Amino acid sequence: MKPIKVGVLGLGTVGGGAVNVLTRNAKEIARRAGRDIVVTHASAKDLNKARICDTTDIVLTTDSFEIINNPEIEIILELMGGTTQAKELVFAAIENGKHVVTANKALIALYGNEIFAKASEKGVIVAFEAAVAGGIPIIKAIREGLSGNQIEWLAGIINGTGNFILTEMRDKGRDFADVLAEAQALGYAEADPTFDVEGIDAGHKLTILAAIAFGIPLQFSKVYTEGITQITRADVNYAEELGYRIKHLGIARKTQKGIELRVHPTLIPHRRLIANVNGVMNAVLVKGDAVGATLYYGAGAGAEPTGSAVVADVIDVVRALTSDPENRVPHLAFQPNAIVDIPVLAAEDIKTAYYLRLNAEDKPGVLADVTKILADQNISIEAIIQKEPLKGETSLPIIMLTQQTLEKEMNAAIAKMEALSTIIGKITRIRMETLG
Ligand code: HSE
Repeated sequence: MKPIKVGVLGLGTVGGGAVNVLTRNAKEIARRAGRDIVVTHASAKDLNKARICDTTDIVLTTDSFEIINNPEIEIILELMGGTTQAKELVFAAIENGKHVVTANKALIALYGNEIFAKASEKGVIVAFEAAVAGGIPIIKAIREGLSGNQIEWLAGIINGTGNFILTEMRDKGRDFADVLAEAQALGYAEADPTFDVEGIDAGHKLTILAAIAFGIPLQFSKVYTEGITQITRADVNYAEELGYRIKHLGIARKTQKGIELRVHPTLIPHRRLIANVNGVMNAVLVKGDAVGATLYYGAGAGAEPTGSAVVADVIDVVRALTSDPENRVPHLAFQPNAIVDIPVLAAEDIKTAYYLRLNAEDKPGVLADVTKILADQNISIEAIIQKEPLKGETSLPIIMLTQQTLEKEMNAAIAKMEALSTIIGKITRIRMETLG
C-alpha cells in the first residue's frame, strides 16, 4: 500500500514533538496502522528558526494553503494554535475533503459544533485527543472506554502550567512570575499565558470533556472560570493544616437541575490521589454509574507527550480511512442527532462547600457576628480556626470550612460579612470538593 501523506501546520513545540514521534516510531506506527505514515510537507511562520525536529525530508513553506490545497496530502495536522488562521485553515481542509488532527482546544471549544457538522457533511474526521490533558488519552477513554456508562461527574487538573506553578510555589516557595517564566521556557504555557493562569485554557478543555461526557453541545461561554492568580501562600498553608491541598480543577457534574461547568482553585482532601498530582502532570477523575470512579494520569503538556496524542489520532484516522463515515465513532461521542442541550447552571446555582479566610479586628463578638450571618443564610460551619496575626499586620485571620451550600447563599453571606466594621478588606473564598 502507498504511504499516507501528512501535512503539518505549525512546527513549534507540539508540531515538532509530533514529527519526532512519527519519525522515530515510524516502523511501530506502520505495524499498527497497516501503512507507512509520512510527513511530506509542513508550514511555519519562520523557515529559518531552529527546530526540535529534523525537517530534512520535509518540504517547508510559509503558506499553509499550499499544504491544504495539495491533492496528495490526506491528513492535515493543525498544530499552529489560535482561532483565526487555524479556523480558516481547518474549514478549508475539511472543504477539500482532508481529515484533520488538531491539538487546538480553543478552536474546538469555540467552533467545534460547526467544525464537526461540516466534517460530517464532508465525510471526514476531525480528531482532537491532544486538545485535552496533553498525552493522557482521556478523549478516547470517555468516548469509547466508558461508553456503556452514564457519566455522573468528572473533575480534572487540566492545565499543566497552572499545576506546575502551584506545585513549585507550595513545595519550594518560589514566586509566581518566576515559575511562569520557566513554564514558558519549557514550552508548557500558551502563547498568551493568561489563558493558563486565568483558567481559560482549562475552561476550553472542560467544555470539550463535558460535551463528550454528557452528550451536550460545546458551550465555552457557559463555563464559570476562575484562575490561580489570587492564591496566596497563606491559603496554601492553612489548607494544608486542615488536611487539604489547593488544586486548580475543572469540574463538570450532571445534577437534577442541570449541568455544572466550572473551573476554579479547589480545596481537596490531601489523601485523594488527585491531590498528589504535581508539576506539569494532569489527572482526570471520571465517575460513571457502572464503573465507579476512574482516574487518568500523565503529562499534561510538552512536545512529545502532546505529540503522542496527535500521533494516536493520526493512526486512528488511517485505520478508519476505508470505513463508512456513518459507522465511525461520533466526533462528540454521541450521535449528532442525539446531542441534547441540557441547561447549564448559572454560577450562583452551583452547590459546593467553601473555605473562607477573613481578616478580623481583635475585638469581642466578631466571631459571634460572623457565625450568625452564616446561620441566617442557612450555611453550616464544618471547622473554624483563628490564627495569629500575619507578620506586620494587626488583624486576625479567621479560617472557616463550611458545609455544602448554594453559591448564591454564600455570595449573600460574604457581602454581609464584608459589611461588618470589624472585618477588614475582602474575604477570600475557595471552593471545596471531597471528590468522594
Ligand atoms: N498550556 C497548556 C497547559 C498546554 O499548560 O496545560 C497543554 O494544553
